[in-house]
Amino acid sequence: MPTSPDPKTIDPKTPDPKTLRPKKMDKRTFLKRAGLFGIGSMLSIEKIAELAESVSALPPETIASDEDFWSEIRRGYRLKPDYINLENGYYCFLPEQILEKFINHVREVNYQGSYYMRTVQFENKMAMAARLSAMAGCEPGQLIVTRNTTESLDMVIGGLDWKPGDEAVMAEQDYPAMLDMFRLVAARYGVVNKVISVPNDPASDDEIVDLYAGAITEKTRLLMVCHMINITGHILPVRKICDMAHRRGVEVMVDGAHTFGHIMFSIPDLDCDYFGSSLHKWLSVPLGAGLLWLRKEHIGKIWPLIASGGHHGKDDVTRLNHTGTHPVYTDLAISDAIDFYNAIGAERKEARLRYLQHYWTDLARGIPGIVINTPADHGRSCGIANAGIKGMKPGELGDILFKKYRIYTAPIDGANVFGCRITPNIYTTVSDLDVIVNALGELSKI
Ligand SMILES: Cc1ncc(COP(=O)(O)O)c(C=O)c1O
Repeated sequence: MPTSPDPKTIDPKTPDPKTLRPKKMDKRTFLKRAGLFGIGSMLSIEKIAELAESVSALPPETIASDEDFWSEIRRGYRLKPDYINLENGYYCFLPEQILEKFINHVREVNYQGSYYMRTVQFENKMAMAARLSAMAGCEPGQLIVTRNTTESLDMVIGGLDWKPGDEAVMAEQDYPAMLDMFRLVAARYGVVNKVISVPNDPASDDEIVDLYAGAITEKTRLLMVCHMINITGHILPVRKICDMAHRRGVEVMVDGAHTFGHIMFSIPDLDCDYFGSSLHKWLSVPLGAGLLWLRKEHIGKIWPLIASGGHHGKDDVTRLNHTGTHPVYTDLAISDAIDFYNAIGAERKEARLRYLQHYWTDLARGIPGIVINTPADHGRSCGIANAGIKGMKPGELGDILFKKYRIYTAPIDGANVFGCRITPNIYTTVSDLDVIVNALGELSKI
């Protein structure tokens, strides 16, 4: 694993990461904690909850910069020594605590075979939907467990009763799978797609709301908006966009692929019509789990992706949930992932992710030649950010970061975003981030 940069290699113009680095927790507190939990061994989910409880008197923002606390969490992650993984946005691999429970579910379902599938399969899936509903602050009966955001949102886009000339509003920064689905309904039903472009660093919420408002006409039926744009980490003012769209009679579908388990919110507070997310990104559920939430009054009007048979009532959300036989043990791990998330504490997790992002972007913003493609306003982003270098192709930057500095990132080259997406997770240390700041500082001088 690369270590922190040699101070001699840091450009004098580059702010010294160490000046921003938090003070260590006082030794007595740390030793007490270490005595409680044991140095070197991975904590169980229950022990993580105890550790979190032991610091519950401190604000999450204070714990956000406590490297001793987060090193206990990092112990649960099996890290590849070859490179620093700053690409946790596609999928964040599981901490061992959840992985072990998942493997046990695989064993158990395998042991029970068809008996499991014919007895408790569906009630277990409903139980997972109920836990997700509680986490999302919504009533049961409006949320289903899907395979991912793509399934959730494309079911809505493809399942509306479109008429020729109907219009839909979206942004070029939206995720390609959804934009492709809108192109498909355009080709199939004659829907007209209006595509706006979201600025990377807006002056205000109104600037964003006005952009979406300007694309609405009396023919608009659906507006899609990202809760967090995946290529920049930009958090959009979804509630204000929903209020504006509803005043104009337009339904809103929110792409929450990157916010569930990342930032705290309740789905009903967004006041949207449809919400989809992937649970393998930020909630640490094994690959292949997502959710779809929709308002009760919309349940009956969406054509399901796969027909579910006549036994479901029109308002029964499970009419949208038929998938055939699939890896049901993935669903079972949702409950374990929620336990892990609750043990750490949602506020602590969000505060840590925001701290990590601002740790490196606040340093990198001061380096001439570096472009940060993520809003400077701390409220408009959390863990994800994107940095480019003037005059360097994102692909080339990603390549050098990987080959020379052993940092794995996701190069983005389009939709007005030119740079590498940097996505830490809760196991990331500030020393890992010093490496990227140092690399950007060196590369900006080339
Ligand atoms: C904003 C956004 N929406 C949707 C998706 C699709 O997620 P999935 O591939 O899990 O369906 C992604 C994936 O990265 C995304 O970033």
